[in-house]
Amino acid sequence: MNIARITAQELLDSRGQPTVEATVYLDGNLKASAMVPSGASTGKLEALEMRDADPDRYHGKGVLNAVRNITETLAPALVGLDVTDQRGIDRRMIELDGTDNKSSLGANAILAVSIACLRAGALVREVPFFEYTAEAFGKPADAPFLMPIPLINVLNGGKHAIGSSDFQEYMIVPVAAPTFAETVRWAAEVFQCLKAVVRDRGWPTTVGDEGGYAPPVGSNEEPLKLIMQALDKAGYTPGVEFMIALDPAASEFYRDGKYFLQRDRIELTSAEMVDMLVDWTERYPIVSIEDGLDQDDWEGFALLKKKTQNQVQIVGDDLFVTNPERVRLGAERDAANCVLIKANQIGTITETFATINVARKHGMTTIISHRSGETELPFEADFAVGTDAGQVKIGSISRSERIAEYNELMRIERRLGERAVMANFPFARGATVRS
Ligand code: PGA
Ligand code: ZN
Repeated sequence: MNIARITAQELLDSRGQPTVEATVYLDGNLKASAMVPSGASTGKLEALEMRDADPDRYHGKGVLNAVRNITETLAPALVGLDVTDQRGIDRRMIELDGTDNKSSLGANAILAVSIACLRAGALVREVPFFEYTAEAFGKPADAPFLMPIPLINVLNGGKHAIGSSDFQEYMIVPVAAPTFAETVRWAAEVFQCLKAVVRDRGWPTTVGDEGGYAPPVGSNEEPLKLIMQALDKAGYTPGVEFMIALDPAASEFYRDGKYFLQRDRIELTSAEMVDMLVDWTERYPIVSIEDGLDQDDWEGFALLKKKTQNQVQIVGDDLFVTNPERVRLGAERDAANCVLIKANQIGTITETFATINVARKHGMTTIISHRSGETELPFEADFAVGTDAGQVKIGSISRSERIAEYNELMRIERRLGERAVMANFPFARGATVRS
């Protein structure tokens, strides 16, 4: 089934900022669309998200040039290609762009088309999106599918919630529920109890960009205490049913070799930052730390990994930017044991698959992740199941663009029936104990 036509449009993401939507039409009556998400705490080596920089429109954030790159450059080159040849389509777009970071056509333009083609391929095959993703990824047919453990961001800070913690994300990790639907129920109950904990301190219960509460905490450690209280209130045992994960997004408060924590009124060296995080892992059931150090602080990452002795998942987000070369470097330098996977950091489906494969080859785990600016398309849900990722990061249990992902995962699980297997948390610290 060949591509007949591709159209594109400027629409809005969950923050009300412009984003790109591409629609792929096939010979016959089939069509599929895709919108791309957008980050706020972006890594400096991410593929380029093309913005118009026209101050008269959306304060420079318009994406009409990216839209034009789809309709005038990508569309004419892709028309006539077999839509199920994902690799060929992505290769053609990479060639047309011709840069290392997709700066000539924009990763937002290229990824919108790449995802729309993947979705169109599912229509051609007449299978659900996750199943076609699995086929494109090269997963053997008839194998069971892994339902991912979600890392659920219930307290927002940093760039996603001004006025709260310096650290960007405090997540709960339900490691022991028997099914994905039960996993969601447990987490939703904790989220409601957390609301009461926040309210009882006299704080507003407003939420940040990813749907977690964003209270004006007195320190960066305080959110951990709030979570422990909420778990207790909901009747769950920290360290057994729930673990905790962090994404400090440390590049955002790193300057000239120091980590500046305004909430704590301290500045830390890299080694001191590592010691603080290690101390927390000894006092709280923390199983995963993403970007605990700056994106260029390879030594800090390696020290944190060494000191937590592979009991804790050390995740590279800004560190790896979903780039296979950076992941190889990370393995060589023993800097992390997990790769956060964000398709828009690299810009095509094929390259995203490649990064997942490089991570696995080096024995690293993978988390499929949303961005802080999301769309109504629950892409990450299907993508995580299709690639057997084992973990997802899709935000809090609130706001429709986040809930859409949880709902999609629950639908997939129901549809799969016996072919769905709940993933285990792969590090000793969070080792799954299911009753
Ligand atoms: P971003 O945040 O989408 O704003 O980059 C998410 C993350 O850092 O994981
Ligand atoms: Zn991150």
